[in-house]
Parts: sequence; C-alpha cells; structure tokens
Amino acid sequence: MGRRIGVLVSGDGSNLQALLDAGLPVAAVASNVAGAGALARADVAGVPTALFRLEDHADRDGRDAAMATWLRSHEVDLVVTAGYMQLLRPVFLDRFPGRVVNVHPALLPAFPGAHAVEEALAAGARETGASVHLVDEGVDTGPVLRQEPVPVLPGDTIETLHARIRAVEHRILPEVVRELIEA
Ligand code: GRF
Repeated sequence: MGRRIGVLVSGDGSNLQALLDAGLPVAAVASNVAGAGALARADVAGVPTALFRLEDHADRDGRDAAMATWLRSHEVDLVVTAGYMQLLRPVFLDRFPGRVVNVHPALLPAFPGAHAVEEALAAGARETGASVHLVDEGVDTGPVLRQEPVPVLPGDTIETLHARIRAVEHRILPEVVRELIEA
C-alpha cells in the first residue's frame, strides 16, 4: 500500500489539522467550497490544494471524476473525507476501492447525515460520540472502523457537545488513518 493521503474538506478543517499535526503524509487537499478554512490550513502546511465546485462541472459524476484524477496525479491512495459535506459518486469511489474514510460526529448507525449533533441533542440522547468509517454511496452507511462514545451533559449546546466530540475525532481519526497506511 502507498502512503500518500488525500483529504476532502468543506469547512474549518480541524480534522485535517489533526492529521497534519500527527505527521501523517497528507499529499493533497481538495474542497468544494472556495475560501474554506481548511484550505488555509493546507496552504500553511505547504500541501497542494484544488477547488472542485459543482457549478464548474457538467454534473456530479464529472466533478467527482476530475477530483479523483487530480488526487491520483498526486499519487494519493487513501482518501479521508474530513468535514466534506457532499456524497461521493461511484465514479470516485471505484478509483479508491475500500480506501475512502470518513469521520462522523455520532455513534453510527445512530444519527447519520449533516445534523448529527443537533439531532442527538434534540432526541435527548444521554450519549453520542464519534465514528470513523469506510465510505460507500450512502449517507454515513459504510462499515465502522472505530467509534468512541461521548456523554451528553446537562446544559450542553450544539457547540459545547460538538467541541467535545471533535476532541475525540482529532484523536481517533489520525490513529485509524495511520493503521490503514501502515497495513
Ligand atoms: C466534524 O465534526 C466531522 O465529524 C463532521 O464535520 C465536522 C468537520 O469539522 N463530518 P472540521 O472541518 O474537521 O473542523
């Protein structure tokens, strides 16, 4: 197995930062969002970045195919979606079979989707957590590789709960990625 990691991001990129801080071989960072904080983090680290906005391509397949080709041009063989808020099409996943990993702020299969922290709070869950899983075509449906619970505390807001979940993500995501590239 190769050792070069590509990271897909849409937001702040604190999980990207955790991968960089762990000394993992991040070789390329792609985003669908211009100006995402994660792109600035990649710039600071000297990692090549590229923007793949849906509106710049004919359709999702075209965007995802271009993104896969760009990652391959940087010899990426493991892809991490770290706060990447789009589904990946088969045309992308087929280029990295079994080698796309996501981090999600809940104990999957509980609370999949883009509002996991808010939904756990609204449901009155006493415990939620963080999951690292393989990506398939579904919404947070691929096999779970690692998960760790996080208690919901009295008075928690989306922000306070998500901050504690992120702290767990920043520990378990680099651990799982390291295992995958060293396997
Ligand atoms: C993380 O909580 C991740 O689980 C979810 O989106 C958030 C991204 O945060 N998918 P960041 O951009 O890595 O700071």
